[in-house]
Amino acid sequence: MAIPFLNDLFKKPAGSVLGVDIGSSSIKVVQLRKKGGKAVLETYGELALGPYAGIEIGRATNLPNDKIVEALKDLIKEANVTTKSCGISIAAASSLLSFIRMPEMDQKQLATMIPIEARKYIPVPITEVALDWWVIPKEESSFTDFDKPPEPGAKPPEKGIDVLLVVIHNDVLNRLNQISHDAALQASFYEIEIFSSMRSVVDQSLDSVMIFDMGAGSTKLYIIERGILRASHTINRGSQEITLAISRSLGASVGDAEHIKRTIGLSPEPDNKSVKEVISLNLDYIFAETNRVIGAYERKYNKSISKIVLTGGGSLLKGFLDLARTRFQTEVVLGDPFTKTEAPAFLEPVLRTAGPEFAVAIGIALRKLQEAE
Ligand SMILES: Nc1ncnc2c1ncn2[C@@H]1O[C@H](COP(=O)(O)OP(=O)(O)OP(=O)(O)O)[C@@H](O)[C@H]1O
Ligand SMILES: [Mg+2]
Repeated sequence: MAIPFLNDLFKKPAGSVLGVDIGSSSIKVVQLRKKGGKAVLETYGELALGPYAGIEIGRATNLPNDKIVEALKDLIKEANVTTKSCGISIAAASSLLSFIRMPEMDQKQLATMIPIEARKYIPVPITEVALDWWVIPKEESSFTDFDKPPEPGAKPPEKGIDVLLVVIHNDVLNRLNQISHDAALQASFYEIEIFSSMRSVVDQSLDSVMIFDMGAGSTKLYIIERGILRASHTINRGSQEITLAISRSLGASVGDAEHIKRTIGLSPEPDNKSVKEVISLNLDYIFAETNRVIGAYERKYNKSISKIVLTGGGSLLKGFLDLARTRFQTEVVLGDPFTKTEAPAFLEPVLRTAGPEFAVAIGIALRKLQEAE
């Protein structure tokens, strides 16, 4: 899917930036440009990776670099991308996030101590990883009870500084460097997709909000409070399981099942009862897991989740939002990241519909724009 005609509306490529999201089932790109303080949408597009792996559209892939590069180049061409200047997402599964507690100390000491402390959490030599960290502001940590300490039986110190530790293996970064180089792109940063989605679909608010990202192979849950990531969890089931279940139960090919999923979805017509049942059964497992994660967070921090924002292609399923609203106790909305961009009014309905899938790519492009300021 691509809308190259958008490019004709905005001929000037100067100052344009690109957000690239390499997902397990498809690549998404979004090109933005700053104009009068606004992020103008120049073009966007998506390309399924299944065909590059010899499998159906909609399924999760595990492709070698050269195939990713081939797909990325095809998409850049198809979507009429005119800039090389980009940022690229890092899959949540390729990163390690830990919430750790450090004794009270100043920033300089922290910078020395955190890499030493981090060794306890990293299963490989520290020289093989890139390390980043954020101190959670004090008022935030008053309720926290961070992850168990690494030594069994040891209690975390009563007072301390809570830190979000982020670890990425050098192999992941080298791979992205290679892909970016071979696709003739100039990537100035790689960002874990969690932070990209936070930028594009969550507004700074005092409340705790959950992002529910249903991709092809997994569903990722992130809890954010005052703009800070407080918890993350992955459910190892995504939208491709629904396709496979439809295929099994109807005796349809996987390709046909994917088509049935996308066209019929949870549509209430009596003819579609069996499709609806198969889908609901799969979703109920994911919703139950999500409620478990919400319950655990709410008990641990004595705070309630005020909103769930749905992202990822899986949430584009017909009737998904309505079903989710009956399964969760809290407000549920579809992520609408294109509202952070300026686009022609006639595109608004299309963008609202496609929005949940582009949360990561838009988040990356927005960061790239900020960087250029
Ligand atoms: N209209 C639709 N109705 C139902 N399902 C859809 C629709 N569009 C896409 N999907 C499903 O969404 C999934 C892809 O979602 P998405 O593009 O967010 O995944 P991804 O980013 O590639 O994966 P991941 O984030 O897990 O790496 C596929 O399994 C696809 O079948
Ligand atoms: Mg994704």
